[in-house]
Amino acid sequence: MKAKVAINGYGTIGKRVADAVAAQDDMEIVGVVKTRPSFEARIATEKGYDVYTNSQENIASFNKSGIEVSGTIDELLDKADIVVDATPGNLGGEYKKLYQKHGVKAVWQGGEDHELAGFSFNSEANYKDAVGLDFARVVSCNTTGLIRVLYPLDKKYGIRKARVTLMRRATDPGDIKKGPINALVPDPVKLPSHHGPDVNSILPNIDITSVGVKTSTTLMHLHAVNIELKQTCVEDDIISLLGGRPRIRLVNSKDGIKSTAEAMELAKDLGRPRGDMWENILWKDSISIDKGELYLFQAIHQESDVVPENVDAIRAMLGLEKDGAKSIMKTNKALGITA
Ligand SMILES: NC(=O)c1ccc[n+]([C@@H]2O[C@H](COP(=O)([O-])OP(=O)(O)OC[C@H]3O[C@@H](n4cnc5c(N)ncnc54)[C@H](OP(=O)(O)O)[C@@H]3O)[C@@H](O)[C@H]2O)c1
Repeated sequence: MKAKVAINGYGTIGKRVADAVAAQDDMEIVGVVKTRPSFEARIATEKGYDVYTNSQENIASFNKSGIEVSGTIDELLDKADIVVDATPGNLGGEYKKLYQKHGVKAVWQGGEDHELAGFSFNSEANYKDAVGLDFARVVSCNTTGLIRVLYPLDKKYGIRKARVTLMRRATDPGDIKKGPINALVPDPVKLPSHHGPDVNSILPNIDITSVGVKTSTTLMHLHAVNIELKQTCVEDDIISLLGGRPRIRLVNSKDGIKSTAEAMELAKDLGRPRGDMWENILWKDSISIDKGELYLFQAIHQESDVVPENVDAIRAMLGLEKDGAKSIMKTNKALGITA
């Protein structure tokens, strides 16, 4: 029997997680929660998802719009084994009480604090610790992208210290409210950006400091990563280690992928749904060892890199698969990730 998954918060992340869950053979979507009868709610019903809403009052507005609504979130939670909460950050505390009332496991996203779930998740770094848990938080897009690189490097060579500059997209492509539209904004001005401490919620022993800059783009984040390793190695060692990771795609600027724009074009040319790039795009020819330190550039598609991690978190928490490597391969195969 397939595991029953509910999605609360059907926006940028929630709608992608819903489609990724629906693509797996061991889990299914039992319903998604929309607060408003928007075009996304209409498309959800067209895709065959049952749409629920978060209050009795909202049912009336769905009925008025003609979009079929199956009931309230309480009714949905009674049918679910687990809920993926992809509501805007900081709503998690309120919803946690509801999930507990219905005895449903929950996966939150990076907009919530680590303390809400008490466990932060990354598929490669700590899958086995999530097996059977009731609550977990998939860390943010940037943190996920960083851990995919830091975890294997630390395991193989040991990280003495990591220093990261994150050039962050201002907002997502579908958002018309946020900016900047013509500026570079140190964010925050004073150390630290939250990404280093967030990495430590999964890899507590890594000495990492990060700074962030908000940039006038919506496509992807770009990371400039500088790492001092404990053991000596050469550039080819790093290429073979990181090139062998299941969710890192090595690209070469000589092939014409010189920017986040071309990285997104690659995703579209691969025929990815919504033009998503689930893997880190890591420039092979940026990997340099200079004066004993490693440097590299990678781009992170903020709308989608956490999506396969959510699928693995569900599989671990429900005990559908106890081996993280097997879950990663299963998720990747179902989505068509061949990095
Ligand atoms: N976007 C990213 O780059 C990104 C990357 C990684 C992680 N995250 C994290 O993922 C989470 C969701 O972010 P997002 O970017 O997907 O946000 P989003 O695009 O704004 O989607 C959130 C959705 O939640 C719905 N919602 C609003 N209030 C709600 C409520 N009270 N109950 C239920 N649903 C409600 C909204 O849809 P309706 O009001 O139409 O129902 C909205 O579409 C956050 O924790 C965020 O930090 C985001």
